[in-house]
Amino acid sequence: MKPKLTRACASAFSHLLALMIAAQLLAAATARADDFQGATHLMPFDEDTIAYSKTKAQGSIPTLQEKIDGGQVKLKFDPQFGYLPAVLAALGVPKSSQGLVFSKTSFQRERIAPGHPRAVYFNDDTYVGYVPGSPLLEFSIVDPKLGAVFYTLEQADVAKPRFSRNDQCLECHASAKTMGVPGHVIRSFATDDSGVVDLSSGVSLVTHRTPLAERWGGWYVTGEHGAQTHRGNLVGKAAYAKQEEKPNHLGNLTSLARFFDTQDYLHGSSDIVALLVLEHQYHLHNFLTRLNYEATVSLQQYGHLNYLKSKVEGLVRYLLFAEEAPLTSAITGNTDFAKTFAASGPKDRRGRSLREFDLRTRLFKYPCSYLIYSHAFTHLPPAAREKVYARLLEVLSGKDSSADFQKIPFATKQAILEILVDTKPDLPANWRS
Ligand code: HEC
Repeated sequence: MKPKLTRACASAFSHLLALMIAAQLLAAATARADDFQGATHLMPFDEDTIAYSKTKAQGSIPTLQEKIDGGQVKLKFDPQFGYLPAVLAALGVPKSSQGLVFSKTSFQRERIAPGHPRAVYFNDDTYVGYVPGSPLLEFSIVDPKLGAVFYTLEQADVAKPRFSRNDQCLECHASAKTMGVPGHVIRSFATDDSGVVDLSSGVSLVTHRTPLAERWGGWYVTGEHGAQTHRGNLVGKAAYAKQEEKPNHLGNLTSLARFFDTQDYLHGSSDIVALLVLEHQYHLHNFLTRLNYEATVSLQQYGHLNYLKSKVEGLVRYLLFAEEAPLTSAITGNTDFAKTFAASGPKDRRGRSLREFDLRTRLFKYPCSYLIYSHAFTHLPPAAREKVYARLLEVLSGKDSSADFQKIPFATKQAILEILVDTKPDLPANWRS
C-alpha cells in the first residue's frame, strides 16, 4: 500500500514548498540587485583550469613558511597566547584589527560562546582566527590566483612551526555564501544566550551594503556610533527584547568586560571601524576571486570575455561603494586601528589616499577600494583587468551616465581619478591623457 499523506502533513508540505520557492526567488532577486545574476553559483574550482587543490599556494603564509624554514624568521611562543602575537607581527597584521565573534558559527563552534568569543584579525591579504585555549590558530590568506587558501598552525612550542594547508575548510568556505569560490565569510545572526544562532532572525551575509541596523548579530562591537542601532553586543532574547524598548542599551560601548574576561585577549576591544573595513574587504576578495575564475575559464573556453559584462559591472559597483549603506551618525573607533590603517597609504602628490576615512556619512573619504592595490586585483587576467579599468575610467571621468554611479559627486570621482593616476603605475595609457 502506498503511504498516504495526511491533510495536515500535505498542507504543511505545500507551505514549506511555497516558503522554499519564496526564499529562492528572494535570494535570486537579492543576488541580482547586489552582485550579478548567478553570483552565488558554485564554480568548478577543482577541475583542470583552476586546479585549486593541486596548485601550490602563494601569498603571505607560504612566504613566511619559507623564511621560518630558512631560519630568517623565528616565531616566539608566548606562554599565554602561543604563536598569536609573533605571527601577527610577522605577517604585519595589526592587533587593533581584532573583531570578536561569539556566535557558534565557525569551525571551533564548541569552544566559542558569549563568555568566550573568537577573535578575528586581518590586514589586506591575511585573516587570522584565535580562540583562547584552542590547540590551533586558523588562517585564511588571499592567493592572487586561487583565492582564499586555508591553514592551521598548532599551538605547540617547536623549533620550526609548520602551517598546514587545509582544504577541508572549504566545506564552509566555498559555497553560495562565498560567491561560489573558495572565500571568506562574515555573517550576522541573532543568537540565544549560549551563542547558538536563531535562524529565523534573518540576515546572514554582511557586506558594506548591509544597513548597520542589521549588522553584528553574534559579534561584540566597541566604539561610538551615535543614535544608529546595530545588533552587536546583544546576547539572547532578553537583550533583543530590551533593544526594542531602549535602542542602543548596549551600543556605544568602550569596554566589553561585562561580557567576558578581556584578559584572555590581546586587548578588550572589537573596534567598530575595523569591523566596517573587514565587511567591505572580505566580500571584495571573494568578488575578485570570482572574476578571476570566471575570466580564466572564459578565456580558456571561448578565447574572449564577452560574457563577463555584468560581472565586471558588478565588481566596479562594489569597488566604488555604489550601494554602500549610508552612515547616519559619526563613527569613532576605540583603538588605533583607523589611524594605522589610514597611515599606510599610498598617497598622491597632494597627500590624499584611498585609505582616508570619512566615517560621517560613509566609510571612506574617496570611495574606491584600497584593494585596487592588492595582488588579487593586479593579478587578474590582464584582459579582465583592462575591462575593469575601462569601466572605471568611464565612470570616474564623468562619461558614464548610468544611474548606479550618479550618487558619487563629480568632484569625488575626479579626486579618485587623480589619486589613481598618481599611485597606480599599471594604469592603461589613456588614463593619463
Ligand atoms: C562550520 C563551518 C566552517 C568551517 C568548517 C570553517 N569555517 Fe572558517 N569561518 C566560518 C564562519 C561562519 C566564519 C565567519 C566568522 C564567524 O562566524 O566566526 C569563518 C571565518 C573564518 C576566518 C575569518 C576570515 C574569513 O576567511 O572568513 C578564518 C581565518 C577562518 N574562518 C579560517 C578557517 C579555517 C582555517 C578552517 C579550516 C581549518 C575553517 N575556517 C573552517 C565557518 C567555518
